[in-house]
Amino acid sequence: MSKAIDSWLSPPLNLKLSSQEVHIWRVYIDTDDSILKKLQPLLSTDERSKAARFRFEKDSAKYIVTRGTLRTILGRYLSQKPEDLKFSYNQYGKPALHSSDTNQSISFNVSHSHELALIAVTQNRNIGVDIEYVRTNVNYEEIAERFFSPAEKAVWRVLPTSVKQEAFFNCWTRKEAYIKAKGMGLSIPLNEFDVSFKPREPAALLNTTWDEQEASRWSLKEITLAPEYIAALAVEASNYQLKFWQLNSLCHKL
Ligand SMILES: CC(C)(COP(=O)(O)OP(=O)(O)OC[C@H]1O[C@@H](n2cnc3c(N)ncnc32)[C@H](O)[C@@H]1OP(=O)(O)O)[C@@H](O)C(=O)NCCC(=O)NCCS
Repeated sequence: MSKAIDSWLSPPLNLKLSSQEVHIWRVYIDTDDSILKKLQPLLSTDERSKAARFRFEKDSAKYIVTRGTLRTILGRYLSQKPEDLKFSYNQYGKPALHSSDTNQSISFNVSHSHELALIAVTQNRNIGVDIEYVRTNVNYEEIAERFFSPAEKAVWRVLPTSVKQEAFFNCWTRKEAYIKAKGMGLSIPLNEFDVSFKPREPAALLNTTWDEQEASRWSLKEITLAPEYIAALAVEASNYQLKFWQLNSLCHKL
């Protein structure tokens, strides 16, 4: 295990989020019946209806565990009961804490893939996170040609085949984390902004076609969390401290 993977700590009981901090939570999506029984009652009526609409039971269970865990974590920061929190959604579906709920302006974003979820939490700044389980049955060439920007395609086309899988998921997660932070979904055309993505190259938003100052307002980071997963964080800030918390099922009693 690399140092970065080991740097995930159990959260302290007196959890604090200072205005300069960004907290990232790594959550193992444990859909064991006992966990589901604890977390399902935390969900609102609309969340339970959403859970009931999934075609496959395993997807419903993952949604319940991820949403129940999100409520549990946010409740800890706000000293509120998880079930009392209310979410609002922008027109693209990005959830936020309902503003009348609290004086604190906590912002957060969630991503889940396969057996892991990431929850990023901060105050007063836009934030987005994306995690992908590295699947091998992906047609990288076709997706890159369709969604990468002209500058990204130029980099992509000359990469050695041996690094293309990692480079592809670097690019994908960085682009997704950024559009998730902006909260506007795919209404931001993925080919109109450039991110770095070569292996070992620091994550960065490099350019956008619509605002030459935009890249300087954002920080992108690669999050190393487990073998076979690639993840990225986008924060609208240049200066902040990152903390990594690990949540496993034992903590759900918090
Ligand atoms: C919904 C979307 C924002 C991300 O979806 P995703 O990558 O499938 O899923 P993730 O697990 O990362 O994120 C889902 C979570 O993001 C949050 N979310 C939903 N809409 C959001 C939005 N507009 N902005 C930010 N976050 C959003 C929700 O919490 C959601 O979790 P929930 O369903 O449990 O409520 C959207 O961008 C999308 O569908 N993208 C598809 C991307 C694509 O083609 N990418 C190619 C890249 S090269």
